[in-house]
Amino acid sequence: MNRIEIVPSVLAADAGRLAEQVKEAEAAGADRIQVDVMDGHFVPNLTFGPLVVEAVRRATKLPIEAHLMVERPELFLEAFVKAGATLIEVQVEATPSLYRTVQSIKELGAKAGVAINPATPIEDLREILPYIDLVNVMTVEPGFGGQKFIARSTEKISRLRAMAPAMEIEVDGGIDARTAPLVVGAGATVLVAGSSVFGFKLGVAAGMKAIRQALE
Ligand code: DX5
Repeated sequence: MNRIEIVPSVLAADAGRLAEQVKEAEAAGADRIQVDVMDGHFVPNLTFGPLVVEAVRRATKLPIEAHLMVERPELFLEAFVKAGATLIEVQVEATPSLYRTVQSIKELGAKAGVAINPATPIEDLREILPYIDLVNVMTVEPGFGGQKFIARSTEKISRLRAMAPAMEIEVDGGIDARTAPLVVGAGATVLVAGSSVFGFKLGVAAGMKAIRQALE
């Protein structure tokens, strides 16, 4: 089995110590850093813009994924790539022209990912799969960190893995040392982790180690 990647989400980080927290995650073996972008419309929360991606970019050489939980993501692609994001994820539910949006991300020189909400059937991804680098299966309803993992997500991940045997499958929401083996067992290859890393009581390194050990 390929090495499972862990991607800490800075939504759970101490915003006042963002650069320091990102460096801690990098030192603890993070593979990428995720920046959750929320517009208060697609999801009922407001978070980060390109300025925060720039700040993360200055703090680390790791790849950065900008997960756009926004309506009309096509309006913001260039700004996030210019800010330093190397992977842009858009929600399959957020744009009627997903093919054009994915092409635009690629033309900007970034990798393209598509995220899918818990209630959206994976069949909605079938036509776009050949054009993307990653699928992010939301294992919570997007909008907030620290939510409970949706148990039936493992069944959905298995069906996606069967539909796309070679696809990078990311999972996002409620991932920790208990749920990580479940999603990896179902076929996930990339784990986004917010509160189980930046919110872990014994610190970032211990949080990363707990997830890694659970996968051994
Ligand atoms: C939720 C975000 C997730 C969140 C994960 O809408 O997309 O990335 O930050 O946080 P945890 O790991 O705490 O569920």
